[in-house]
Amino acid sequence: MLNPSNKESQNRVVILNPKGGSGKSTLVTNIAACYAHRGEAPAIMDYDPQGSSMAWLERRSETLPSIHGIAAYKKSINATRSWQLRVPSGTLNLVVDSPAGLSHDDLRELTRDASGILVPVTPSSMDIHATARCIADLLLVAKVNRNERKLAVVANRTRKHTKSFSRLMRFLDSLGIPIIAVLRDTQNFVRSAEKGIGIHEMPPSRVRPDIEQLERVVDWLDGWQERRSRALELQRRKNAPPRPAMLGKSQFRSA
Ligand SMILES: Nc1ncnc2c1ncn2[C@@H]1O[C@H](COP(=O)(O)OP(=O)(O)O)[C@@H](O)[C@H]1O
Ligand SMILES: [Mg+2]
Repeated sequence: MLNPSNKESQNRVVILNPKGGSGKSTLVTNIAACYAHRGEAPAIMDYDPQGSSMAWLERRSETLPSIHGIAAYKKSINATRSWQLRVPSGTLNLVVDSPAGLSHDDLRELTRDASGILVPVTPSSMDIHATARCIADLLLVAKVNRNERKLAVVANRTRKHTKSFSRLMRFLDSLGIPIIAVLRDTQNFVRSAEKGIGIHEMPPSRVRPDIEQLERVVDWLDGWQERRSRALELQRRKNAPPRPAMLGKSQFRSA
């Protein structure tokens, strides 16, 4: 599904949630706009046939830092799939938008090489229910390794003090999955989407709290290489044969 080039050095962020309207495209476009402003050659790969992220890119002015778009939901009979999905060389950050309903196969395929997986969730109990199931699928079906700490939730349009939200917090807490940011319900996201801009491309005085939360998301994503090396180190230690000294100790204890 994804272009196999640059897998080791490329930051691949996948945004998913089985519910439409949870804020996937909003996160995708805002994260990509942040990377573009940092001059980090981002691309958006849009798997959702609704094409919201691609439509946002079309509205984006050419005078703004550019973002490459790949309409992965389109299937062409004149080109191979890998040609259609090719990511320009030099792309440092690939941000993947996904459709509302994903089959288990798609979920596995989409998340396989991800360096970060974000699940935006709105506070309706239906959405929270779907999110809990989505996270269970990510862990059990897509076999996302929790040690890699690449899975996080972004609470969107949130009223924090609802019962269902507290239940979600407890559920995520029990799994060690962090809620890395809380986006408030504001027309700023709607207006910026209409203009093909990111929230931080709006007049700063109106969007300060929103930028703060978005920066939390990007800061967390920026830690992907460190998280990956930590997970590899953990795995290496787990697989390493016990050291002779430790063997001796445990033998002594069990004697
Ligand atoms: N925090 C927010 N506050 C207000 N409106 C939002 C917020 N997040 C998303 N929206 C709006 O909600 C709608 C659905 O969001 P979208 O990102 O397209 O969801 P999805 O991609 O999951 O279907 C869009 O019109 C978007 O502008
Ligand atoms: Mg969308």
